[in-house]
Amino acid sequence: MLKRKDMLGLIDASEEEISEILALAAQMKQRILSGEKKFSYLEGKTVTVLFYENSTRTRTSFEQAAKYLGATTINIVAGNSSVAKGETLVDTGKTLDAQKNDFIVMRHPMGGAPYLLAKTVKASVLNAGDGMNEHPSQALLDMLTMQEVFGRLKGLKVAILGDIKHSRVAKSNLFGLRTMGAEVRMFAPETLIPKDIDKLGAKVCTSREEALDGADVVMGLRIQLERQQAGNFPSLGEYASFYGVDEKMLAYANPNAIILHPGPVNRGVELTSGVIDHERSHIENQVLSGVAVRMALLRLLNEYRES
Ligand code: CP
Repeated sequence: MLKRKDMLGLIDASEEEISEILALAAQMKQRILSGEKKFSYLEGKTVTVLFYENSTRTRTSFEQAAKYLGATTINIVAGNSSVAKGETLVDTGKTLDAQKNDFIVMRHPMGGAPYLLAKTVKASVLNAGDGMNEHPSQALLDMLTMQEVFGRLKGLKVAILGDIKHSRVAKSNLFGLRTMGAEVRMFAPETLIPKDIDKLGAKVCTSREEALDGADVVMGLRIQLERQQAGNFPSLGEYASFYGVDEKMLAYANPNAIILHPGPVNRGVELTSGVIDHERSHIENQVLSGVAVRMALLRLLNEYRES
């Protein structure tokens, strides 16, 4: 059983923990696909969704997951809360704790913010993305999607291309996939590759062809213009021509390779529309995997809270 109060990152998640989450998520996904949308696992529990950054997929899927599980949900957008009047994160957390919230799902622009919150509240904290650090539920939903198609993660060759430097998704995938025995290749302009990422287990490639050669999974990452103070490449057009993935580049991958992207996608920049809408694209399937993974996480953390 997952023995954690919080889910903050995959850096310290074991193979057994990841396998348990993915197995339950796979079950939950099948149940959703068969039309079940009402469960009682979190009846009487409150899940607060506290986002200090924009989101479409993560916020709505956590909320949907909590509702499917029977919880009461509360949505706080930082701009409309007392945070806008200068309240600190710790004080916001204390307020939510005083209201007997059971779970806080938080996205924050600062790396480490959910760790600070988790230390100060009794509620279980789920990291929905902290700065450039981690986005564990995204990597878990990516792994669920890969496992569904290939029946395994061990030995898969996963090519991650895009803005790796600013990406919490890349880091959580690197930690999770390496723990599960996959090979993780990365390719980006040198200005968008974190120094020493190879020491964390990534195979840093020097060309798209090298990264894609025989890859089972081709994962594009968004160019995060909002996190780049200075230009890291000359123009979006040049990025697309020299670093993006089009159908010609896709031909270097395994003929059965699947295409993933966490979204939101910059169409025509990191991936062409032909690749995004390709018959082997699982970008929409990833979204449903996201609801299932978040249901599994909430259920497992709740079981630990009640044990
Ligand atoms: N993948 C992801 O985190 O998307 P959102 O920013 O829409 O939540």
